[in-house]
Amino acid sequence: MGNLFPRWTNLLPVKILVCLGALGTAVVALAWYSWTPKFTRVGYMPQQPIPFDHSVHAGQLGLDCRYCHTFVENSPHSNIPAAQVCWNCHGPGKVKSDSVKLEPLRQAMDTNSENYTGKPIPWVQVHETPDYAYFNHSVHVNRGVSCVECHGRVDEMPVVYHAKTLSMSFCLDCHRNVDEHLRPLDEVTNLAWEAKDEDANEFYAKIAGKGGKAEELKEADADKTWDEKLLGAHLQKSWNVNPPTDCAACHR
Ligand code: HEC
Ligand code: HEC
Ligand code: HEC
Ligand code: HEC
Ligand code: HEC
Repeated sequence: MGNLFPRWTNLLPVKILVCLGALGTAVVALAWYSWTPKFTRVGYMPQQPIPFDHSVHAGQLGLDCRYCHTFVENSPHSNIPAAQVCWNCHGPGKVKSDSVKLEPLRQAMDTNSENYTGKPIPWVQVHETPDYAYFNHSVHVNRGVSCVECHGRVDEMPVVYHAKTLSMSFCLDCHRNVDEHLRPLDEVTNLAWEAKDEDANEFYAKIAGKGGKAEELKEADADKTWDEKLLGAHLQKSWNVNPPTDCAACHR
């Protein structure tokens, strides 16, 4: 009886193995490249000229993010505050005005200081999208997307670090499942917000608008779990939120 398979097939399993091996190495190399912190920037925490502590200022003192990041709602770009904002509290005779940690602030602001330069404090930028990708803060913040979604719990950070990947797939994951990520507009800078903090009657009244229907909406939800996804789905509908997924929206 002759061979059922031609002779070359004897080598087939070997060839398949070699190919799989090469493919495996490529996959591992790619994953290694994309997931290491150096590439994704997750964990990036540069040393700042002044050890500014968000957990003190935004956490304990409860200053709203917009007190310092004043443009975040109105402009594509979120600003770092000018030294004047710090000077309001840390100027002569005020909070910790003699602290050595605040020397760069005095250089920027204190005309009586012998080290006065009048130059802005050289903060090191932590988050940065590449030039070829377009990003706009205000469109997100005004659609109920909280800072925490993209920056993590900054209000608990003694030193700001890059908490999320902010990679393309990160952007798209939210654009495709946006309902889980929306909250009422007045909670955007409350990084600790959870659905259970929200008063049900007030919430339905808000999304029902002037015409009423709040009771109807509430009844229709009676069996559903009161969570971020449920509230987010209502907000998405009510505001007609529809984030783009086409390449040209972010690569213009
Ligand atoms: C008292 C002023 C002040 C307040 C309030 C404040 N920040 Fe900041 N923020 C700064 C300063 C100054 C920097 C630059 C130094 C640094 O990175 O720590 C900064 C940096 C940041 C950065 C990193 C910027 C970069 O370079 O990529 C993020 C993100 C940020 N803040 C988010 C927030 C959020 C969210 C809140 C509210 C929970 C907040 N900040 C409240 C002053 C403030
Ligand atoms: C609303 C008032 C207020 C503003 C605005 C403010 N701070 Fe503060 N800051 C404080 C208070 C209060 C403390 C806590 C002081 C303490 O620990 O007793 C503090 C503490 C600090 C400390 C620690 C000082 C030390 O020696 O322990 C630094 C550094 C600092 N702030 C930097 C800044 C910078 C930089 C800005 C501007 C981006 C700023 N602060 C804006 C009120 C403010
Ligand atoms: C949907 C994601 C997203 C949300 C929501 C978001 N940010 Fe950002 N943020 C980014 C990205 C991306 C960058 C880098 C932008 C760039 O390179 O221009 C950034 C940069 C920043 C910077 C640094 C700007 C600079 O040039 O140094 C600050 C400060 C900041 N964000 C504060 C905030 C605050 C405060 C909020 C909430 C009110 C917020 N962000 C909400 C994604 C987000
Ligand atoms: C947590 C959710 C979330 C994340 C993360 C997110 N987005 Fe969005 N994005 C939205 C929402 C909500 C809108 C508003 C859509 C609307 O109004 O219909 C939006 C709108 C946009 C728009 C269209 C508006 C405009 O400016 O033209 C662009 C572009 C965009 N996002 C880019 C990005 C990029 C780039 C990233 C990643 C750095 C990102 N987004 C991350 C939720 C998100
Ligand atoms: C919601 C915004 C958004 C959309 C939509 C989007 N991109 Fe991107 N893209 C980004 C961001 C942000 C980066 C930069 C990621 C980083 O910093 O690592 C990026 C990076 C890239 C890169 C560089 C390599 C990489 O993966 O980092 C390529 C290529 C690319 N995008 C192609 C596309 C194509 C093709 C489409 C359409 C199918 C598309 N993008 C749609 C936001 C987007």
